[in-house]
Amino acid sequence: MLSHTKIRIIEAKYGSPFYIFDETAFRKNFDDIVKAFGSRYEKFILAYSYKTNYIPYLCNIIKSKGGFAEVVSRLEYDLALKVGQKPDKIVFNGPVKCYEDIALALDNKSIVNLDSWSGIDHVAKYARKNPNREIKIGLRINIGLSDKSGLSHIQEYLKTGRFGFDPADSNMEKVVSRLADIGNVMVNSLHGHTSTTDRNVWCYQIISETLCQIAEKFFPESIEYINIGGGIFGYIPPQMRWAKTPSFDDYAKAVCKVLKTSKWVRRQKPHLMLEPGIAMAANALSFVTKVISVKDIRGELFVTVDGSGYNVQPTSHKINHPYQIIRKISSKKRRTFSVVGSTCMEKDYILTEITDTLPDVGDFIKIDNVGAYTVVLTPPFINPAPAIVVRKSGTFKLVRSKQTLNDIFKNYAF
Ligand SMILES: Cc1ncc(COP(=O)(O)O)c(C=O)c1O
Repeated sequence: MLSHTKIRIIEAKYGSPFYIFDETAFRKNFDDIVKAFGSRYEKFILAYSYKTNYIPYLCNIIKSKGGFAEVVSRLEYDLALKVGQKPDKIVFNGPVKCYEDIALALDNKSIVNLDSWSGIDHVAKYARKNPNREIKIGLRINIGLSDKSGLSHIQEYLKTGRFGFDPADSNMEKVVSRLADIGNVMVNSLHGHTSTTDRNVWCYQIISETLCQIAEKFFPESIEYINIGGGIFGYIPPQMRWAKTPSFDDYAKAVCKVLKTSKWVRRQKPHLMLEPGIAMAANALSFVTKVISVKDIRGELFVTVDGSGYNVQPTSHKINHPYQIIRKISSKKRRTFSVVGSTCMEKDYILTEITDTLPDVGDFIKIDNVGAYTVVLTPPFINPAPAIVVRKSGTFKLVRSKQTLNDIFKNYAF
């Protein structure tokens, strides 16, 4: 438990607001996912989705635990190299990769999953320049996820996802024929990441089945990786979930059952790869913010803090995160109030209409479960990005310092 005094010490050193990284939770997520899948299918690889939270400190943990880096841009690819991730343990996904990006990743023997015909064109150019090399590439496959009633479960209930190659036989035959024309290229990876609305277990069953079927039919001898992507639920605090969510074991059981019943898998023994983001990072970061004012406007109570909703939920979902009020002086005044942020946006809410003891100016509020798509998605909007600390043997170590004016404006012309 963090005391008010302890927070004041961190504030004095690094400024308020700030994030706290829970290294134990992050490592446990890694271990639990690996245990669930690895105990059911030996050749399992966890490739951490950098985009979810690419604090280098976290990326280093992934490297040290033998995980792969899943990256979707040249920025993230270069970051993985800078962190010291071995290039052959980097999976380069993403819909937009230019020739130079692909050439670098192929030079480095990274796993490159192509999203489109433009990617194949880049590979053809690379193959012409490297006629004596046998080039290995991966393909992202577009997965249809409609249920029995015809409802598509792709994110936002979109009818058709936009990523990867159409898996229809006629299209895959064209891909095979184009690659055969190039000559010195083989497909070693099939990637089926599909963001869904409800992260259902059956979606992963379909993804695994589709990838294994395509592998067996079109690339039976060359596939080394069946990559089912990310998007699984992690540990969600009970107050943030609307229903019981599947466990890592639930996902692993369904996926590994598909793999184990495939004759092709038993013969070829590909690696099974998962790219978790939210399930790794969400519960590993908390945000601590200081109460600046408490006001009553026409009977509604607003607690304004120095952090912002953008630090906590930049995707603007409306679910209140678990929180803890860390007071200087204890209080029994229970009221209903909202915690609102430091920006000038009316919609900048951190907690909406909670009933609790009303904080005082100078108290702190710790918001939990804010590790996914916050640090990476929050621009320095109105205020600089806050510090990030990690608790280490009783003290707090700096992982990122608070941004300065110079950090933000050094690339602008004045
Ligand atoms: C290719 C790919 N892999 C993995 C992920 C991670 O997803 P999540 O954070 O939902 O686990 C994403 C997220 O969009 C993705 O696009």
